[in-house]
Amino acid sequence: MPNIPDTSATANSVERASEQRISHTPPDLSPNRQHFPSLALELSGQPVIYADNPGGTQVPQECIGAIADYLARSNANTGGAFLTSARTDALLAEAHAAMADMLNAADPREIVFGPNMTTLTFAFSRAIGRTLSPGDEIVVTTLDHDANVSPWQALAEERGAVVRMAEIDPATCTLDMADLHAKITPRTKVVAVGYASNAVGTINDVETITSWAHEAGALAWIDAVQYAPHAPIDVQALDCDFLVCSSYKFFGPHLGIVYGKLPLLERIAAYKVRPATNEAPGKWETGTQNHECLAGLVGTLDYLATLGRAQQARYGARFAGMSGRRLELHAAFAAIQAYERELVRHLLIGVAELQGVQIYGLTQEADLTRRVPTVALTVAGHTPRALAEGLGQRGIFAWDGNYYALNLMERLGIEARGGALRIGLAHYNTLAEVDRIVAALHEIVGG
Ligand SMILES: Cc1ncc(COP(=O)(O)O)c(C=O)c1O
Repeated sequence: MPNIPDTSATANSVERASEQRISHTPPDLSPNRQHFPSLALELSGQPVIYADNPGGTQVPQECIGAIADYLARSNANTGGAFLTSARTDALLAEAHAAMADMLNAADPREIVFGPNMTTLTFAFSRAIGRTLSPGDEIVVTTLDHDANVSPWQALAEERGAVVRMAEIDPATCTLDMADLHAKITPRTKVVAVGYASNAVGTINDVETITSWAHEAGALAWIDAVQYAPHAPIDVQALDCDFLVCSSYKFFGPHLGIVYGKLPLLERIAAYKVRPATNEAPGKWETGTQNHECLAGLVGTLDYLATLGRAQQARYGARFAGMSGRRLELHAAFAAIQAYERELVRHLLIGVAELQGVQIYGLTQEADLTRRVPTVALTVAGHTPRALAEGLGQRGIFAWDGNYYALNLMERLGIEARGGALRIGLAHYNTLAEVDRIVAALHEIVGG
């Protein structure tokens, strides 16, 4: 059994600390629910609850409308001398600019679109790998989703390179930073690390890890898929070389996005067809892009900017030097972060009282700033699948299994037992929904 702290004791400390709670009341983001048509779905006369958000989030009407509008009014390929093609060119430019604003990239050319994070990571790792020699090293971590592990392992096999896996502290499901630091050597060429765990919610100190990578002359590849829905991202402050995310995890359509520093995107040779441009980002965006989903992404970012405008007076001050949509998007995610912290505090207190529960990851009040609202747990005597089924029957959607965080589940010793139940919240969830989730779990578990 892994060395996990006693979760009931842990929850009491969450409770105690929350009694002397912060004077600063978090924003109420629940009015934003009206933007999401799918939140109206009911099962057996009750509204459903989406707690499956780390697997994919719901989308606002702004996204749905933009997809339909693109297909109705602008549907064409790029670069033509006619109206719909010109509209498509303008849309693609707007999508790059909007994503640059969300990530605080210095230049829209630093944004590359593709089908999803996994496919983009395979493509980029392969291209980066052209410069690798036998004996070169790549550092990955036990905490990561396999999409940030297997592409690097495949590359290492091809190039005779060595993959070194940084360990975790299983008691808290946090990275063992000393181990990670020790595994970065003068032979390290890439450090691939997640910003937040898709299984247990831990946020990693990717700024420090990036600086360690750079000291060794290595590239820092950051998987921000699970961080992007929950907090503002500033690639310039992080100074990472690449950062990858997926818009279907942050209220957009099924698309993947890579941020890369422009000189790197220009210098590294992409796998591409001859007639395609040699310029970034086009040389990386192989084939025809998913134009309607790019329209949907712009719609989602419009929604988030609207949310941010309403919160700008309160959260904007953190982002000196930003203005316009960039500031609105950063204020939006700062407000989301504050709101979700209350949700996860409430959830941790509630689930800690379940008989036989084991919560994996950070649960202390002081650690709520080091996690996103994704909670993995097991309950003695109940398989994660049975818990998810019990919730599903009650209209509460949550994942069970390993969610591709394979190394972590093996390290925690729960892979062979069906992994864990994962409750993953987003900014459209409410405290009342968290209460319903906790009550449903108590009903299923009994005792
Ligand atoms: C942390 C993390 N990285 C990568 C991925 C893979 O993303 P995609 O489905 O866009 O390939 C996921 C998907 O769940 C994830 O959670």
